[in-house]
Amino acid sequence: MAAGVLLEARGVTKSFGGVRAVRDLDFSLGQGEVLGVIGPNGAGKTTLVNILTGFVRPDRGRVVFRGKDITGLPPHKIANRGLARTFQGMRPYPGLPTYKNLVVPLNSPRVRKTAAGRFGDLDSVALDLLEEVGFERDSSVPYKTADSLPLGYQKRLELARCIALRPEVILCDEVFSGLSMAEISSMLPLLEKLLSRGIALILVEHRLRELFRITRRVLVMRFGEKIAEGPPREVLGRPEVTAAFIGRGSPP
Ligand SMILES: Nc1ncnc2c1ncn2[C@@H]1O[C@H](COP(=O)(O)OP(=O)(O)OP(=O)(O)O)[C@@H](O)[C@H]1O
Ligand SMILES: [Mg+2]
Repeated sequence: MAAGVLLEARGVTKSFGGVRAVRDLDFSLGQGEVLGVIGPNGAGKTTLVNILTGFVRPDRGRVVFRGKDITGLPPHKIANRGLARTFQGMRPYPGLPTYKNLVVPLNSPRVRKTAAGRFGDLDSVALDLLEEVGFERDSSVPYKTADSLPLGYQKRLELARCIALRPEVILCDEVFSGLSMAEISSMLPLLEKLLSRGIALILVEHRLRELFRITRRVLVMRFGEKIAEGPPREVLGRPEVTAAFIGRGSPP
């Protein structure tokens, strides 16, 4: 593993029945780096995130984090090592007040270890985290059930759940989808703040224009394969990438 590499996938492959969702994919992510992952619907982006975070076990290949093989570890163990993720469809705990959603990651062994003895009241730490991602501290919103909140708040809660883990990497699966331009514009500085703290980001996105405001490297997937990787504008100029996005080409 090269110096400065934090997360690496080598030859990861996963089929569902006859569908090869991810095939023989390699990539690496440096400390504090941001990588965009793009590609048409069904290209395998979410499956890749699921493989990296332990929700799906690859048929072949390895995932290495901080020099250790984490392939096949269960999700909670991977999260506990510092790889946090958001979900494409949000997954708040139904019926629980929004701030209580953060008590679960705040109780993880990782956080208890790193913050030993410094936490007083977990509820107030949770409210601080929500404020950090843009919830108004003195409003009633943090006390409402999370599944009743507008999408913009639910997306921010997903990020807060990741930040609560004090992660080294956050993998965001379409964190901009369904948001207005204004909402995305207010979320970008939050992502930049995480980067400035040294947290690396993998951003799976369909909102390319907004993605390109924050990332200098993208990986393009089509039919489970990596078809291009590099600076966004350069990569988008390649004919095979254009073809993938306008739906030409058939599965190999
Ligand atoms: N659990 C599963 N069982 C069966 N097939 C699956 C499963 N998960 C994903 N697939 C299939 O694998 C392929 C890749 O799906 P995936 O969700 O990873 O794509 P994606 O790039 O995230 O798409 P989108 O942009 O629509 O979110 C698709 O053909 C999908 O139908
Ligand atoms: Mg997806």
